[in-house]
Amino acid sequence: MKDLENKNDLTFKASKDFIAKSYIKKDDYDTLYKESINDPEKFWGEMAKKISWIKPYSKVKDVSFQKNDLHISWFKNGILNVSYNCIDKHLKTKANDIALICEADEPGNSKKITYQQLHDEVCKFANLLKYNNVKKHDRVTIYMPMICEAVFAMLACARIGAIHSVVFGGFSPEALAQRLIDCDSKLIITCNEGKRGGKIIPLKNNVDEALKIKGVDVKNVIVFKHTSNDVNMEKQRDIYYHEVEKTLKKTCEIEPMEAEDPLFILYTSGSTGKPKGVLHTSAGYLVYVALSFKWVFDYKDGDIYWCTADVGWVTGHSYIVYGPLANGATTLIFEGMPTYPDASRFWQICSEHKVNIFYTAPTAIRTLMKAGNEYVKKYDLSALKLLGSVGEPINPKAWLWYYDIVGNKNCPIVDTWWQTETGGIMLTSLPGAHLQKPGSAGLPFFGINPILVNDSGEEVNDSGNLCIKDSWPGQARTLYNNHKRFYETYFQAFPNKYFSGDSALKDSDGYFHITGRVDDVMNISGHRIGTAEVESALVSSPYVAEAAVVSYAHDIKGEAIYAFITLMKDVKDCEEILKEIKACVKKEIGSIAVPEIIQFSPALPRTRSGKIMRRILRKIASNEYEDLGDISTLANSSVVADIIEVHKELI
Ligand code: WT7
Repeated sequence: MKDLENKNDLTFKASKDFIAKSYIKKDDYDTLYKESINDPEKFWGEMAKKISWIKPYSKVKDVSFQKNDLHISWFKNGILNVSYNCIDKHLKTKANDIALICEADEPGNSKKITYQQLHDEVCKFANLLKYNNVKKHDRVTIYMPMICEAVFAMLACARIGAIHSVVFGGFSPEALAQRLIDCDSKLIITCNEGKRGGKIIPLKNNVDEALKIKGVDVKNVIVFKHTSNDVNMEKQRDIYYHEVEKTLKKTCEIEPMEAEDPLFILYTSGSTGKPKGVLHTSAGYLVYVALSFKWVFDYKDGDIYWCTADVGWVTGHSYIVYGPLANGATTLIFEGMPTYPDASRFWQICSEHKVNIFYTAPTAIRTLMKAGNEYVKKYDLSALKLLGSVGEPINPKAWLWYYDIVGNKNCPIVDTWWQTETGGIMLTSLPGAHLQKPGSAGLPFFGINPILVNDSGEEVNDSGNLCIKDSWPGQARTLYNNHKRFYETYFQAFPNKYFSGDSALKDSDGYFHITGRVDDVMNISGHRIGTAEVESALVSSPYVAEAAVVSYAHDIKGEAIYAFITLMKDVKDCEEILKEIKACVKKEIGSIAVPEIIQFSPALPRTRSGKIMRRILRKIASNEYEDLGDISTLANSSVVADIIEVHKELI
């Protein structure tokens, strides 16, 4: 309870002027929230009218979380097209308005795409997909940098009813292959090369490597030429976009889609080594992201909005592409990173494009805070009116810096809690309605009924496992080809509700404070990585006998990875071996998963039944070895002292 008391102290309020102009004020929230929970069919039935339908739905909601009948359906029998809603719908009034601002890795190199141009580019691309035999419901993998063509590719899929699976450009060929195989993609869209922080990312080479891996069955690779360098192109299989571009028509009929037709698959980490293909469908997802985008960011026509997430993660899907474009917004997409050429890059972009709404991750905020205020002060950020945070808890110190220095004490901050599986923002303090509390993700969005339960599943008031009662339109519908795992992961632990995997506190004002994951999933710089995935990558090294991975608190990354490893017999621990082991993780997953610290140990602590005691390793990694709790159940308790000794030397 002590934790909670401290969390109530500091509050911030948007300015009178902001509140006066905002869509949702305190009273609106109170009334509408109640309505949305008491009569979700009525609430969402109304909200769904804001998107364009080819044929209206006949049933708003049909949901069961029961084991033998797990199904989630919204807006049944409705027919629509998501690409129409993000493009064509706006052409009458906004053809010449800017849809996308694309800012390149190097400063001074940006491009603006109007809604008409977006239409033409997406249609050309859709025609190319069709020409290459991509049909409704086929899976198309997109492995691209943060450039406007990534957005064209996603919307082109949506236009013809293909299901896209965007794979983060930082993933290795192995990780890409695993995701291609899982959803049986026949076509990949990529670039010759990407650029990030002045470095070249060899995307097409990675694709070539992935395609050599057994089980991958890709027939065609569409390649955008993004840099001037040439890459290997396989005749028959690989298509250079610029070579066929002139032949492509700028119109393409939209494919009428059922409300519950899949829109995309997005792989995310879980507690086993195999990533989960989270599946989102068309209408419910669109209704949810369109509404939450508008109200959470209080987006008004003409605002310039920038979300710094990667399109390879759900934030990029929902709040760079679908949410903003469904609202006819101007959305900025940035290829580079916050610290290149220097730590003022974000602020320089904000000032150059007069960004009004800025949405980023705590890890970026902490990095830029550390770099110093002078990087921010150099630029005129007076266009900013709202700031957002997502991906992990934001510590109050970083929150206050963001508020004071970036927002000049004049911009409300929306801390938004949600997940790949939730499709859109679930908890936040709506800027015109609620006080903001640094470190708290705030209150539920409309239609969201969050509760806390103890480990026995009983509802508790102040601290427990964060679950959502009932469904909401943006909810994931299944895990691709694995409905059983969908049930087991999200609905089994606490029957009849969705379990997020997070734990949280709720204070006396009803504000939620996320306290971390309760499963074996880590959050490294806002990237979700499973301990099992990293362990399996580590043991893929011929030198490694076994590995146990935990995370520990890190100043910048939020959490960082700590690996405990036992080596194969006769392998000596040395720098060389360490390097090779790290290279294995890079190869299997990508740089983001390479452990910050690797500790060699002759053995790992185990229970008598052979289970590795991660709880103990977690404490050691966090320097909490004074209080290890009960280790009497260990089969080999003597290793613990040795592990602590080595740990002390390492840090
Ligand atoms: C996990 C979901 C949401 C899109 C990006 C990440 C953590 C996310 C917050 C926040 C505290 C947060 C949770 C969640 N998380 N946002 N505002 N405060 N924690 O999506 O990869 O599916 O990860 O990120 O632990 O479960 P994701």
